[in-house]
Amino acid sequence: MNKRKILVTSALPYANGSIHLGHLVEYIQTDVWVRFQKMQEHEVHYVCADDTHGTPIMLRAEQEGITPRQLIDRVWHEHKADFDGFHVDFDNFYTTDSPENQEFCEDIYRKLEARDLIAKRPVEQFYDPVKQMFLPDRYIKGECPNCHAKDQYGDSCEACGATYSPTDVINPYSTVSGAKPERRSSKHHFFRLSDPRCKAFLEEWVFESFEGQSGTAVELKPRLQPEAANKMNEWLSGGLADWDISRDAPYFGFPIPGTGRKKFFYVWLDAPVGYFGSFRNYFKQKQRSQAEIDEFLQPGGNTEMVHFIGKDILYFHALFWPAMLKFSGYRTPTQIYAHGFLTVNGQKMSKSRGTFITAESYLRQGLNPEWLRYYYAAKLNDTMEDIDLNFDDFIARVNSDLVGKYINIASRCSGFITRRFGGKLIHTISEANRKWFNQFLFCQLGEGDTFLGRHVSIAHFYDHREYGKAIKEIMLAADVANQYVDRMKPWELAKNSAKHAELHEVCSVALNMFRILTIYLKPVLPKLATEAERFLGVSPLVWKDASSQNRLLPDGHQINDYEHLMTRIDPKQIEKLIEVNKESLQPPQIKPAQTMENNSSTPSTPSSPSRNGENVKGDTSAMMTIDEFARMDLRVARIVNAEQIAGADKLLKLTLDTGTEQRTVFAGIKSAYDPEQLKGRLTVMVANLAPRKMKFGISEGMVLAASDGNDGPYLLAPDEGAQPGMKVK
Ligand code: 2FM
Ligand code: ZN
Repeated sequence: MNKRKILVTSALPYANGSIHLGHLVEYIQTDVWVRFQKMQEHEVHYVCADDTHGTPIMLRAEQEGITPRQLIDRVWHEHKADFDGFHVDFDNFYTTDSPENQEFCEDIYRKLEARDLIAKRPVEQFYDPVKQMFLPDRYIKGECPNCHAKDQYGDSCEACGATYSPTDVINPYSTVSGAKPERRSSKHHFFRLSDPRCKAFLEEWVFESFEGQSGTAVELKPRLQPEAANKMNEWLSGGLADWDISRDAPYFGFPIPGTGRKKFFYVWLDAPVGYFGSFRNYFKQKQRSQAEIDEFLQPGGNTEMVHFIGKDILYFHALFWPAMLKFSGYRTPTQIYAHGFLTVNGQKMSKSRGTFITAESYLRQGLNPEWLRYYYAAKLNDTMEDIDLNFDDFIARVNSDLVGKYINIASRCSGFITRRFGGKLIHTISEANRKWFNQFLFCQLGEGDTFLGRHVSIAHFYDHREYGKAIKEIMLAADVANQYVDRMKPWELAKNSAKHAELHEVCSVALNMFRILTIYLKPVLPKLATEAERFLGVSPLVWKDASSQNRLLPDGHQINDYEHLMTRIDPKQIEKLIEVNKESLQPPQIKPAQTMENNSSTPSTPSSPSRNGENVKGDTSAMMTIDEFARMDLRVARIVNAEQIAGADKLLKLTLDTGTEQRTVFAGIKSAYDPEQLKGRLTVMVANLAPRKMKFGISEGMVLAASDGNDGPYLLAPDEGAQPGMKVK
């Protein structure tokens, strides 16, 4: 088998938000693939970095009173800890704010310019006269031109779902300073994607297949999955617009050469280039030569570059990125693998339902990261379909497959070997046992098909990102192993001294089966596999250890004492996890702006629950001015009635006396309050919140309560003397 040389990347996470279970779909998917290729002894380099530039990060740092570099440094450490915690083993986790990246960006830009692929022309945008900066559309809010709901984003209305241009918004204001934004023009730099050379190149690149290796076979591989290629076809036939790659100062990013620090590269230009920056930094650390770096980054090298991404960023990776690389003389991607989004219990991740779960909270609750790795692997395939994390199914699969089938083999047989045979295995297999072993080792893919080594079919599934099929095949093998143990009943054999040799043989075969299952599962369960290797007394297992010459451990092989390898999931742990991730009140009135800046030449892509579900893009809300605060009408209100709502888990229906009228408000405080206790007491409400249609009726305001996610909510109450209708300021 030829050694493949593969540079693998996962999308770079933004440096202002936490890693959550949605992100982990991709990192786990990539990490499994990389570990599998490494087990096949290919040369694989897996690089990633934090995506650090852009307006949201600049504003977030300002809001926290720190520099952008301090912010991205802190977040880098948080992300690194999350990835380590989930065993996502990058060869290099770097930053886009690096000298290597800057050098690549400038080089690419200059080469595109030399090939007449950079255009400069004026663009009119909203400008914040107080903050003195151009604003991405997400920083403009105002009244919806359709339903007149207040405080809607500049491009879409959350109340009625309409989408529109920021220029259509009524009474727009900047969420950064509260000022009325102005339309101003400035010169922008564009990558001329509309040039016929780009179209001609992309049309060929997207649809061409190439001869690629998979196991020992060479097969024709496509650059993109069929669904992705269809999407590209749509985009290409719709015509390509030039891509705006500049942003005006102030901006946290790399200055565009020759603009006197007035123009900066748009974050989406330097982000994918960050793959190269991270790779070069890694090879430099390893003291690899320039020629070795070039082999991966220049055209013509016998290497592959494979990007794992979410389907929401296909446009950037399959249009801009290859075209940019091609015309600046670099290598282009070999393959792009796009995956779908994550839903939890069949729905978009949600803070109020407690299903918007951060990596950090999962680990902090003491849940085993390999449970999630296993579950995701069992659900993943090679399409762009969404995957669902269903907690009941999660508990059932982990407990029955991993613990009940795989671990069980070792825990049932190891004791006999250690106690009765000094920890030594035997190598001989009788005819009857050999049959069982063959049934374990071989499978038939279809009825009437010839038998195939499972290590070959499982390897094929891993290589093609059909992890669900790989896991299914592995569990079929585990079933055979368990049937074997059940049938041979080592516990019965142990009672009869005449069956001593048979006991030795059965337990040795079963532990060999366990060893082979460990090889199969190792890309998914690296930590468990390491512990199993210790128990089995073997050096780190690679794929060929499952092939014919290496299937049985040698005679007299010594194993170590068995220590329990994995516990079952207790459903209470999941309840707790959801509880600590629950936000008991509905999202606050001024929502954090999203990290992804709108780009006029980018078609709208579906929003991604895995990346930007409820504020997933990061808590990037800007500071509020006193004027903005004054827009909020907070009032003392008396709760004149409080009642349960049939079918509501979290809400109570409150009737509030505001001094001049009565309002109905649905409040997420059921977990903490008995309605009877609430009647008659005073609290504080937001009186000018636009009425919101909820499942149980229209909510005409919001009551304020304190909570830290674990504890609460505690309803606010004014001091004695306050009267309904008094303004809180
Ligand atoms: O969508 C995102 O989360 C981006 N930060 C991904 C960037 S991937 C690559 F282009 F760097
Ligand atoms: Zn509207």
